[in-house]
Amino acid sequence: KESRMMEEDYVFKIVVIGDSAVGKTQLLGRFTRGDFFLDSKSTIGIEFQTRTVDIGRRRVKAQIWDTAGQERYRAVTGAYYCGALGAMLVYDVTSRRTFDHAARWVDDLRAHADKSIVVMLVGNKADLAVAGARAVAADEAAAFAEEQGLFFSEASALSGENVERAFLRLLEEIH
Ligand code: GTP
Repeated sequence: KESRMMEEDYVFKIVVIGDSAVGKTQLLGRFTRGDFFLDSKSTIGIEFQTRTVDIGRRRVKAQIWDTAGQERYRAVTGAYYCGALGAMLVYDVTSRRTFDHAARWVDDLRAHADKSIVVMLVGNKADLAVAGARAVAADEAAAFAEEQGLFFSEASALSGENVERAFLRLLEEIH
């Protein structure tokens, strides 16, 4: 009986992408385990974590892949995107450069991922933006997302604000 309750109807592969240090690993940790580490080490190679959630009447196992944003690890592309139904493209709201690079990550997705992949643009570290360190206006990011056909949300892996909502929205939009 127990094992039956744990069965999933679907497994959705999700990839988390974006520049180094924008908070990809911490967003993933917040969503899958509910935790956060301030002294997060840079990801080396590729890792994935899972969390099973109910989306409507479906039990979905989200298999979320995390990779290093550093250039030297970027050779993974093809295999990394293979079979991915969703992508979370992360930038840091206090770093202009990480937002400017979002267009490059979109190009990467268009080149390597399935055409129907659902993409959620996430402006992370929103907790710092309230302290006056904001470098990217939410309106500007929302406009970019609309133009590119992406969903958009700001979030904070540290406070947890909007993290659950952003992941669930991404999973809901996958058909
Ligand atoms: P790579 O593995 O190098 O690609 O980095 P990453 O994108 O996985 O970043 P990571 O999750 O390791 O976080 C980088 C740093 O930002 C760490 O010191 C985190 O503690 C910090 N950080 C992550 N998310 C937040 C957030 O929402 N708010 C604040 N204030 N700091 C954050």
